[in-house]
Amino acid sequence: CMQVATNVTEQKHHVSRAKRGQILGQPRGFRGCTVWFTGLSGAGKTSIAFELEAYLISHGIPAYGLDGDNLRTGLNKDLGFSKQDREENIRRVAEVAKLFADAGQICLCSFISPSAEDRDVARRIHRDSDLMFFEVFVDTPLDVCEQRDTKGLYQKARKGVIKGFTGIDQAYEVPEHPELVVKTVDCSVEESTLQVVEMLQENGIIP
Ligand code: PPS
Ligand code: MG
Repeated sequence: CMQVATNVTEQKHHVSRAKRGQILGQPRGFRGCTVWFTGLSGAGKTSIAFELEAYLISHGIPAYGLDGDNLRTGLNKDLGFSKQDREENIRRVAEVAKLFADAGQICLCSFISPSAEDRDVARRIHRDSDLMFFEVFVDTPLDVCEQRDTKGLYQKARKGVIKGFTGIDQAYEVPEHPELVVKTVDCSVEESTLQVVEMLQENGIIP
């Protein structure tokens, strides 16, 4: 059974978000939020998130990408790919993203996050802290992802070497109300990234 901490109270920062934004960043202003990329393995989540990170940084806007492959070798290295472990993966990442966003970063999360319920938890974690959360569905069909097979994982999954692979023998729940749907077929990484940039502009996050 899990021990939970009791006698814990929230400690308030001395620096407000307004103050943070007023002093840090170029152009100035608080723009902390989270962009959550979801989609199948090989859909293009990492490519778009890291392209967007480079774009934002080059414009002087604080941004940081949290990626499934990276988090799973560190913070979440005790987790596998069962439904339960994916749930805990997403919960932890969402909590970390919330901190990045609260610190004024545009946090770019690229995780398969196949469960709609888990993605809603991530959204709620942000909403409860009054932070904007944008769910971006990287909508690449399974057959295209499998054809790309950039990491050779689909081949392994088909052979049964990898069990519980998303799209093969575990479900991916398509987002029903994402803030943005990005297609990657007949569309370059730069073009897909620009769609996310436009979404951030329309929402007043970036100029
Ligand atoms: S999840 O579902 O959100 O918890 O997954 P995530 O943290 O994004 O990790 C996905 C990356 O792990 C590799 N990988 C697998 N993906 C799906 N299913 C199984 N069984 C699996 N095993 C390993 C794979 O490289 C994923 O990266 P992407 O970038 O999505 O291809
Ligand atoms: Mg990736």
